[in-house]
Amino acid sequence: MPFPEQFLQELSDRNDIVDVVSSYVRLTKKSGTNLFGLCPFHSEKTPSFSVSSDKQIYHCFGCGKGGSVINFIMEIENLSFPEAVEFLARRAGMQVPEETRNDPQARRREQLLALNKDAARFFYGCFRAPGGAPAQEYAMRRELSPATVKKFGLGFAPDTWDSLVNAMKQKGYSEGLMLQAGLVRKGKNSGVYDTFRNRLMFPVFDVRGNVIGFSGRILGDGEPKYMNSPETPVFSKSRNLFAMNLAKKSKLGYVILCEGNVDVVSMHQAGFDNAVASLGTSLTPEQARLISRYVNEVVIAYDNDGAGQKATQRAISILEKLDLKVRVLTMEGAKDPDEFIKSKGADAFRNLLAKSEDHVDYSLRNLQSKFDLSSPESKLNYLKEAEAFIAGFSGRAERELYAMRVAETVGVSADAVRQDVERLRKSREGRDKRQAEKQEMNLAGRSPVKTIRYENTRRAMAEEGVIRLLYRDPQLFDNVPPLSPEEFSVPALGNMYRVLSAQSGGAPSMATLSGSLSADEIALLTILLQKPETTANGRKALSDYIEIMQTERQAQEQSEDLLSLAKNLRKKKGYTDQDGN
Ligand code: CTP
Ligand code: MN
Repeated sequence: MPFPEQFLQELSDRNDIVDVVSSYVRLTKKSGTNLFGLCPFHSEKTPSFSVSSDKQIYHCFGCGKGGSVINFIMEIENLSFPEAVEFLARRAGMQVPEETRNDPQARRREQLLALNKDAARFFYGCFRAPGGAPAQEYAMRRELSPATVKKFGLGFAPDTWDSLVNAMKQKGYSEGLMLQAGLVRKGKNSGVYDTFRNRLMFPVFDVRGNVIGFSGRILGDGEPKYMNSPETPVFSKSRNLFAMNLAKKSKLGYVILCEGNVDVVSMHQAGFDNAVASLGTSLTPEQARLISRYVNEVVIAYDNDGAGQKATQRAISILEKLDLKVRVLTMEGAKDPDEFIKSKGADAFRNLLAKSEDHVDYSLRNLQSKFDLSSPESKLNYLKEAEAFIAGFSGRAERELYAMRVAETVGVSADAVRQDVERLRKSREGRDKRQAEKQEMNLAGRSPVKTIRYENTRRAMAEEGVIRLLYRDPQLFDNVPPLSPEEFSVPALGNMYRVLSAQSGGAPSMATLSGSLSADEIALLTILLQKPETTANGRKALSDYIEIMQTERQAQEQSEDLLSLAKNLRKKKGYTDQDGN
């Protein structure tokens, strides 16, 4: 059910793209009317994500994503088109239109959430039942109290093939839905069987309190240690954090980020009700953004091993980009927070928290520990790496301060280090700029959107031009015989032509198109609209474009005719090779 054009127009008028994007991305003015920031959809160090206030569109030169404010919300909040419309309508205090209620994707999500909730209840019941003895014993061995089990809704998946399937069937859920939720798997014969068997079940909640998936730990040793729900329409590992639903209510004002579910559970039990963990993957930008919605400080408390240190560095660089204050907790004598708390107690852990260092101090200390600093050579090597690290800080004062500190450690003048750092920074900026320019150059010619192919560049460029003119000034087309979408060599551009020419009067806006074009088409349209086009002599430009389209098309058809003619001739003579050529 499409939304009325007028409604979408009002929606986009009342949700200025700059305002909306600004609540996710820090934007700064760089050139012309465009604002720039670090792209929230891919990882980058220099901003290639642009937002145009005039055109009300966004576009990333790095990953190619782009579109209207509605596309932005779809992408960043992982919503369907009607859901994104509803989100923006709420934001602007507009009446939410009836259409969203009938959105099949939204309905499917509701069903999945209902199933997950009932499954969580089922596992929870199994834990408390007499059959739950193995899980109860395991929880006891891990020193998890009954109150903790209750708080996290921990459960037990019995050691059978069909307990969950049967229980959920009785509640009226279909096998198809259970399959989509990842709770069951297809068997060799026609039936399905339980995915989670003989495991301690950790339900995963989103911040609204929905059960979106599960993590199941084996009771004791064995492989795989954890089984997790697959990605589903309601479960995205990269966008959620274990226990964020609880940590968001903490009064502590910061979040402790750890690696394991068990670490989180035992920290909450010890009174640290602000612990969260990423769901078995390394921290993602989306997870960092989720944290930044609730607090502005994070303490990283990853495992005390090489992998933990690497993960810490990665997490720092992600968190820091969002202006979060980042500290790092270092443990000795235990491999992870769970073990530390169990062997040394909550007070000892509180001490570690109080001693946790600022992330820059942590990183510099970590770096320094790799060099012995006894020979001039190792000192220079350390200096080089430290300078490269410091050159990455955006604040000048920050660079000065740490340059002084490093100079002192090595025993050279602060001025020398400072100068090195600034020189490095300048050359880096130059390199980034050249790279960005090269990227923009590369966009000319090939299709800028990976999934869309341009076979004949000249023809495609002319087709782009037609679309650009049609978008900017539909009146130009008044006296031109209508093109048919099939005349376009790039189907995506043909489709844009079809949709744009069907728009009723007035200049179309990206928001009203968001529902009729695919995400790739929106991205392509956004990019091609950024290329310059003078509408001053639009009539001439249009007829040139159409002429190129037609001559190129004829040339292509002729050569295709010749090819098939030659092929037929060869066939007749019996020269056909294996492929029939
Ligand atoms: N994980 C996973 N799959 C695995 C192992 C780990 O998804 N095969 C994820 C889980 O989310 C787990 C986290 O990675 O919580 C950290 O792993 P690990 O430290 O091994 O697990 P803990 O929860 O700390 O469990 P334990 O204390 O029992 O070792
Ligand atoms: Mn662990």
